[in-house]
Amino acid sequence: MKQYFFRRIRMSFSNKLFVFLMGVFVLLTSFFSVFSLHSQQENFKKNLLREGFMIAGILADNARLGIFSMNNRQLEAAVSNVLGAYNVIGACIYDMEGQILQRKTAGPWEMTDICRKPERAVNDPSAEGLLNVSSFEDDEIVEFWSPVLTKTSKLSEDELYFEQDNRGRPGRTQRIGSVGVVFATTELQKNIRDMLITNLLVLFFLVFISCLATYFLVQGVTEPLNRLLKDIKSRGGMPEDRDDLGLISDTYSGLIRNLSESFATISTLNSSLEIKIAELEQEIAKRKQTEAALHDSEEKFRDISEGIAEGVAIVRDGIFVWLNKAFSDIFACLVDDLLGQEAAMLLPWPGQKAGSPWPSERLTGPGGQEPFLIEVRRKDGLDILLNVCCRPIIFEKQKAIQVIIRDVTERHREKTRRKELEIKALAQSKLASLGKIASGVAHEINQPLSYIRVVYESALQDIAKQRLDPAEMTVNFREALRQVGRITQITDHLRHFGRIDTSKFEQVQVPETLTNSLALMREILRLDNISLTQEIGEHLPSVFGNSVQLEQVFINLFQNSVDAMSESNDKRIRVSVQQAGEMLEICFSDSGPGIAFEEQKNIFEPFYSTKSMENRSGLGLAIVNSIIRDHHGRIAYRDLPGWGASFVINLPVSRDSGNGSSGALGQGPDNI
Ligand SMILES: Nc1ncnc2c1ncn2[C@@H]1O[C@H](COP(=O)(O)OP(=O)(O)OP(=O)(O)O)[C@@H](O)[C@H]1O
Ligand SMILES: [Mg+2]
Repeated sequence: MKQYFFRRIRMSFSNKLFVFLMGVFVLLTSFFSVFSLHSQQENFKKNLLREGFMIAGILADNARLGIFSMNNRQLEAAVSNVLGAYNVIGACIYDMEGQILQRKTAGPWEMTDICRKPERAVNDPSAEGLLNVSSFEDDEIVEFWSPVLTKTSKLSEDELYFEQDNRGRPGRTQRIGSVGVVFATTELQKNIRDMLITNLLVLFFLVFISCLATYFLVQGVTEPLNRLLKDIKSRGGMPEDRDDLGLISDTYSGLIRNLSESFATISTLNSSLEIKIAELEQEIAKRKQTEAALHDSEEKFRDISEGIAEGVAIVRDGIFVWLNKAFSDIFACLVDDLLGQEAAMLLPWPGQKAGSPWPSERLTGPGGQEPFLIEVRRKDGLDILLNVCCRPIIFEKQKAIQVIIRDVTERHREKTRRKELEIKALAQSKLASLGKIASGVAHEINQPLSYIRVVYESALQDIAKQRLDPAEMTVNFREALRQVGRITQITDHLRHFGRIDTSKFEQVQVPETLTNSLALMREILRLDNISLTQEIGEHLPSVFGNSVQLEQVFINLFQNSVDAMSESNDKRIRVSVQQAGEMLEICFSDSGPGIAFEEQKNIFEPFYSTKSMENRSGLGLAIVNSIIRDHHGRIAYRDLPGWGASFVINLPVSRDSGNGSSGALGQGPDNI
C-alpha cells in the first residue's frame, strides 16, 4: 500500500507537484503558526509582568501607612483589596525584619505554598532582590515582590530598581517593608492552550483549504500535460518503469527523432518527386513525339499500303473505316463503295452466322490473329479464295483491326494441280513397285497353286483308279483350301495397295502396315536370301495417316535395300519401331554398302538414282520423303555402326486415336 502510494507520487508529475506545493504550504503555515504562538505567549507573559508589577506597587503603596502605624486592619484591607484582582491568588506584607505582617490566599491555595520567599526580598537590600519571577514552565505560580518605601512616589519598574541613594542610605527613599503578590499561572496556561488549539484548528482549516486550492491549481496547471499523457498512453501504452514526465520526454525525443526522420524522408521524397516530375515531363514530351510519330507513321502506313499488292483495310466497330486501292480492286469495286460498309458482309468470319457482326474481341485474344482462308464472291460474280490476316492496331488514336487480304485463287489452283500430279506420281510409283514385286508375288502365288494342282491331279488319278481314300482327300483338300486362302490374302493386299484413292487419313498402326508391306515383299526377300529382323515395341500408339501411303514407304525402302545388297554376301535387314516421346521412331537398316557422304544430300531429290537397272526412275526416296512430310513427320539418313544404309523416320503420335478424318495427299495446314 505504502509502496503503491509512493509509486503513484513518483510516477505522476501532478502528484509530485501537489505534494511539493502542499509541503511548502504546510511548512510555511506551521512556521507562521509557531511564530505567532510564540509571540502571543510572550505577550501574555509581558502583560502578566506588567499587571504583577502594577498590583505589587499598589499593594506597597497601600501598605505604607499600615506598616508605619502597625495598623493590622489597614494592612488586611490592603491585602484583601489586592486579592480581588484577576488571577491573584495570594498577597503578603512583610516588615523590614522579614516578619509577616499580613498574608492571605484565595481559592484552594495554602499559605505555605505561596509567598514563601520574603527572606531574599527583605534581606537583600539591592534592587535586584526586590523582585523574583518564577518560571512559567515549572511552577504553577508567579510571585511579584515590591519594596514599601518611605517616600510616596510614582512607582515604575525602573524606579523600583534605580531611584535609590548612591550610598544606600534611606535618605531620600527608605524601605520599610516588602509586599508580595502571587498570581496563578493556570489561567495563563489555559489561555495559551486555548490559543494553541485555536491555532491548530486554523492551521488544519488552512491546510484543508490549501489542499483543495492546490489540488485544483495543480489540476488546472497540469491539465494540458495530462491530456498529452492520455494521448500518448492511448497510442502506445506506458512502460512500467517510466514516470509521466519521463514518458513525455521520451515521446518528445521520439517525436523529434521521427520528425527529423520524416523531414529526411520528405526531402528524399521531394527530390524523388522532382525526378519523377522531370521524368513525367520527359514522358509527356516523348508521348507528344510519339503522337507526332504515330501521325507520321499513319501517313506512311497509308502511303505504303497504297503501294502494295495486298489489300489492306482498317475495321473499327465492324465497319471499314479505311482501305487501300488493292483491297477494293480484289473485290472489283471502288474504294468509296466499301468505306462505311460492314466487314462481316464482305468478309464473313469462318463459321460466322449470316448477319452477325465481326468477333472483334477474338482478334485481340490468343489465337485471334491466325490467318484463315475464305471463299468470297466479287461484285462481278467471280468466286475468289482469299487469305485473310487480321491484327489489332491503333488507328487515329483508337483501337481498330487491320485486315490484310491476298487473292490466292491462282495459287490454290496451282497447288491443287500440284497435288494431282503428286497423286499421279504416287500411283505411277506404286505401279512401278507392283512391277518390281510382281515376280515375287507371282512366285508367292505359284507355290500354293502348284500344291493345289498336285492335290487335284492326285485326286483325279484316284478317281480314275477308283481308289478314293476320303480321309486322305479331306486332309489334302483342307490344305489346298488353306493355300487358296493364302493366295486370296496376297491378291487382297495387291488390290489394296493398287488402289488409287490414298486420300483417307485415319488411325494407323505402323506395325500392321509393316506386316502388310511384308506380305508383298516377303517372297522377294526369301528369294534373295535376305534375313529380316523386326524389333517392335509394345503398346505402341497409332499415328494419324494413310496406311497405303505408309505401306508404299516400306516397300520402297525394302526395294532399295534389296537392290543395294544384290551383290553382298551378308544380307540383313533390321526394322525397329519404338516410341520416342511424342513421336514414333521407325529405324530401317540394311547391311548393304550404304551411301557415300557426298551423295547423301541428293538421295531425296526426285530423279536421283545411281542404279543402271531398267525401270529405275529415282523417284523412290523423293516419294517417301513427300509421304512422310504429309504425315507431319521427318525422314533422315543415318550412318549406324555395323550397318550399311539406315533411314530414321519420325511420325507424330496420334493424340485422338478414335477420331478419323479425311485429307488429301499433302494434307496439313493450308500454307498458301
Ligand atoms: N538402302 C540403300 N543402300 C544404298 N543406296 C541407297 C539405298 N537406298 C537408296 N540408295 C541410293 O539412293 C538413290 C535414290 O534412291 P531412290 O529410291 O530414290 O531411287 P532408285 O531406287 O534409284 O530408283 P527407284 O526407286 O525409282 O527404283 C539410289 O539410286 C541409291 O543410289
Ligand atoms: Mg528406289
